[in-house]
Amino acid sequence: MEISWLEQVNADVPLDDEWLSSGEQLILAGMKVPKRRADWRLGRWTAKRAVTAHLELSSHPKQLSAIEIRPAATGAPEVFLDHQSADISISLSHRDGTAVCAIVPSHGVVGCDLELVEPRSDAFISDYFTTEEQTLIAQSSQEQRDHLATILWSGKESALKALRTGLRVDTRTVSASISDGLDYAIQDEDRADASVIGVSRGWYPLHVRYEERQAFEGWWQCIGKLARTAVSVPAGGPPIRLSGCPRL
Ligand SMILES: CC(C)(COP(=O)(O)OP(=O)(O)OC[C@H]1O[C@@H](n2cnc3c(N)ncnc32)[C@H](O)[C@@H]1OP(=O)(O)O)[C@@H](O)C(=O)NCCC(=O)NCCS
Repeated sequence: MEISWLEQVNADVPLDDEWLSSGEQLILAGMKVPKRRADWRLGRWTAKRAVTAHLELSSHPKQLSAIEIRPAATGAPEVFLDHQSADISISLSHRDGTAVCAIVPSHGVVGCDLELVEPRSDAFISDYFTTEEQTLIAQSSQEQRDHLATILWSGKESALKALRTGLRVDTRTVSASISDGLDYAIQDEDRADASVIGVSRGWYPLHVRYEERQAFEGWWQCIGKLARTAVSVPAGGPPIRLSGCPRL
C-alpha cells in the first residue's frame, strides 16, 4: 500500500483562517494556549494540503474550508469532504514547527510520527521501552544511541497511532526494531532541509510488533535533527512525497 506524505512548516500556514471550516474556526477560538493553537493550525493546514494534493483537488481556501479534519473519540484524525467521510485514512504529527500528514486508502491504516533526535535518559529507556528495544540500545555505540532511541520511540508512537490508542496503552506493548541505515543517518545529521534533497530519499525499513497480536511494517528516516517514521497495514513501499498543489 502506498503511503502519501506531506510536510509543511509554520511559515507555510496563512495568517488568516479562511481555509478552516466554520466548525474548525470555533474549535480554534476555544484554544487558549498559543503553542497548542499554532500546532493545531499547522496540523490542520498540513492535512488539508495533503488531502487536496492526494485527491488532486484545488487548494483554493474555499476548497480547503470544505475539508474537515475531525478527531474521533480516540483523538485520531478523520477526514470529511463536504461533511461526508472521505475514502482515505490519515495520521498527523507536529514537532517544533514542522508537521507531517501521511495518507493511505481507507481500507488501510497508517500511523506517522516526527521526533527530535535528542538524548533520552536511562530512566526513560527502562520505563518505556521493551526488553528487546533496551538490548538494541545497549548494543549501540555512544554515537548511535540518541538516533536509535529516537527512531525506536517514534516507531512506537507511529504504531500506537495506527492502533488508534495513542499513549493510553503501555508503550511496552509495542516493540520497534530497525536493521540498517543508522550510520548513514548520523552522517546526514547536518542536512537540515529535507525539502532540498527530497524527503522520499533515504527511507529505511522499520518493524513494530504489537504484543503477539499484530506486526506493523514501516519506514524511518533521519535528516538533520528530525526523525520521521510511518507504519501501515497492509505494508507498502517507502512514503511518497506529495508535491503541494499550487496556491490559487
Ligand atoms: C497520539 C499521541 C501519542 C501523540 O502525541 P505526540 O507525540 O505528543 O504528538 P504528535 O504531534 O506526534 O501527534 C499528535 C496528533 O496525533 C493524532 N492523535 C491523537 N490521538 C490519537 C489516537 N488515539 N490515535 C491516532 N492518532 C491520534 C492527532 O491528530 C494529534 O494532532 P491534533 O490533536 O493536532 O489533531 C498522544 O497525543 C496520545 O496518546 N493521545 C491520546 C491519549 C491522550 O490524550 N492521552 C493524554 C496524554 S497521556
